[in-house]
Amino acid sequence: MDNFKILKLKIENFRNLENDIVEFSKNINCIFGDNGNGKTNLLEAIHYLFKRKSFRKNTSFPQLLSIDSEKPEIIFSSVIEINGNMAPLSGKITEKNSDWYLDSQKTKRKIEAPVVFINPFDSYEFHKTASMRRTWFDNQISQIDKEYKKYLSSYNQMLRQRNTLLKKKPSHYRDQIIAIDTQRISVIKNIVEKRNEFLKQLNPICSPVFKKIFSEEHQLEIFLDSEFNNLNEEKILKIIGSQIEKEEILGFTLSGIHKDDYTLLFDGINSFEYCSLGQQKMSYISLLFAYIELFRYKFESFPIVLIDDVSGELDGKRWSNLVSFLDNSMFQVFITTANENFKKELEKMANVENIFVNSGLIEKI
Ligand SMILES: Nc1ncnc2c1ncn2[C@@H]1O[C@H](COP(=O)(O)OP(=O)(O)O)[C@@H](O)[C@H]1O
Ligand SMILES: [Mg+2]
Repeated sequence: MDNFKILKLKIENFRNLENDIVEFSKNINCIFGDNGNGKTNLLEAIHYLFKRKSFRKNTSFPQLLSIDSEKPEIIFSSVIEINGNMAPLSGKITEKNSDWYLDSQKTKRKIEAPVVFINPFDSYEFHKTASMRRTWFDNQISQIDKEYKKYLSSYNQMLRQRNTLLKKKPSHYRDQIIAIDTQRISVIKNIVEKRNEFLKQLNPICSPVFKKIFSEEHQLEIFLDSEFNNLNEEKILKIIGSQIEKEEILGFTLSGIHKDDYTLLFDGINSFEYCSLGQQKMSYISLLFAYIELFRYKFESFPIVLIDDVSGELDGKRWSNLVSFLDNSMFQVFITTANENFKKELEKMANVENIFVNSGLIEKI
């Protein structure tokens, strides 16, 4: 997998950010500033540059466009590094279109840069809602496994077709559903296998990472709750076709891997149900850092890591653990905080670029 870094960025008309050129460190970038000044917006811009979408849910173009903009377009100009080679990457986004250029060549395809966004506030949603967990795992697995991404998009396409048939019930729709389900079997089998394979790789890293960051010994393990675990094709077919009468009444598909869920066990207990909010946050943060560690084992490369407002969650000792964890890391990281004490801790690190965001103005300090 390719190694990506961002060296320079200029953004025009993106939220409250000023149109300045910012240079980043290849290692640690600390972003300071009081609340409401644009720290998260800067992380969002970096995320958008690589992923062509926000990490905020349901974010449309008008929300991203600066309310003070004179023209309805957002322009990104950047210099990135791909495996040590510099390349300009730029993009122009309007309500209807977006054009991207890499090395001055127009590129339709997204560059496949892995990015990990860490916001401890997401822990609550992650622990509360199955759909958030599913999306989280789907996104993370897709970043490291292109085949998984393909299976998932073909599964989703089949699901959409199947749901349309169930809703509109055109003539011979039952035959068409059977045809889709026949195709669905192997995709389900592959996706379930890949989900389990991912957990098998991630699980051994979770508890050691928890200990490294939080200095506490806990057993953290994730399991896939799927009715398709270890089933052969015949049994899969039986399950996905078993609720057809009910599905016809409801107009959507009840059974499939879009209903799978994950259980996080904290010392053997379901963390969604039994853990304190603090323990849930620590587990969530550990899970994300374990995922980053997985990159090292698997690819000897790293994602770009965006950490937003992590400070409020941790006490002094844990801050310094996290800081030394980051300090010894090889990835490019952007970490924001409005907390003065955490700022002091962060400033102790070597190889760090300190950036200050004040009313959208991005300055180095
Ligand atoms: N489209 C937009 N145009 C101008 N300002 C915006 C836009 N969207 C959000 N903002 C402003 O961005 C600020 C919040 O930025 P944010 O990055 O969340 O701050 P923080 O430093 O707390 O992370 C708010 O002042 C908000 O009004
Ligand atoms: Mg913020």
